[in-house]
Amino acid sequence: MVNWKEIDQNVREWIKEAGNRIRETFASTVHISTKSNRNDLVTNVDRETEQFFAERIRKYYPDHKILGEEGFGDQIDSVDGVVWVIDPIDGTMNFIHQKRNFMISIGIYYNGEGYLGYIYDVVHKELYFAEKGHGAYLNDQKLLPLEETVLQDAVIGLNPTWVVENKKIDHNLLIPIVKEARGLRTYGCAALEMVYVACGWLDAYITTRLSPWDFAGGKVIVEEVGGKVTTLSGKPLSILENSSVFASKPGLHKQILETYLKDYKD
Ligand code: 2AM
Ligand code: CA
Repeated sequence: MVNWKEIDQNVREWIKEAGNRIRETFASTVHISTKSNRNDLVTNVDRETEQFFAERIRKYYPDHKILGEEGFGDQIDSVDGVVWVIDPIDGTMNFIHQKRNFMISIGIYYNGEGYLGYIYDVVHKELYFAEKGHGAYLNDQKLLPLEETVLQDAVIGLNPTWVVENKKIDHNLLIPIVKEARGLRTYGCAALEMVYVACGWLDAYITTRLSPWDFAGGKVIVEEVGGKVTTLSGKPLSILENSSVFASKPGLHKQILETYLKDYKD
């Protein structure tokens, strides 16, 4: 039996400790390096934070598995058992350039299903949290179920990258959404954009390229308030795969999939 209550208490403590450490780094020089290209950034803080979580998890839960962005986790080829999906800093470019708009993101999955989701806004000390079947919260405030809307009244989280020529998607596909929506916003942090959907501050979030650690925590939270989280062609997400992500209020999700994304192929 998995003791979810105890796990929850531990995660909250560890997130608070990691958040304190990250805020302390604002007073010192952060070491920046690049990964796959000059815009794919990582810092010593990303690495140290993931290492911190991995050490705690291995000490307290040696039979759990860890899927992390910075390589301190395990090689995962099955969703069996408890899997912690961790992004120590989601929005690294924001962390480096803005010192805000970045999150610690943790999704805890059991046999492939999300049970606990934590997105921590380190700068504002705000914790977005959900437990499957038991509601979603921003700190102590319970989040309300999402109400339906239509694209013409909607504010959509969407990066302009995807409506100019790019390697991932036919850029013409999303132009009608951009034209029809009431407004567009870009925050550069998938976890932030997903919890904004959960809070109703964005009506949907659309992106063509995420890794499991970018969406695992947010998915649990969005779904707990009645939102839909799928690929851009409406398929379920898996923590074993990179994919496009479309998180949205329920009616809007159907409208966008059926009217605007019917030609999209994952
Ligand atoms: P990161 O900051 O942890 O790298 C930016 O629009 C969002 O997409 C961030 O959540 C960022 O996560 C993620 N992201 C950026 N480049 C990515 C890539 N090549 N693959 C998957 N996710 C990426
Ligand atoms: Ca990251």
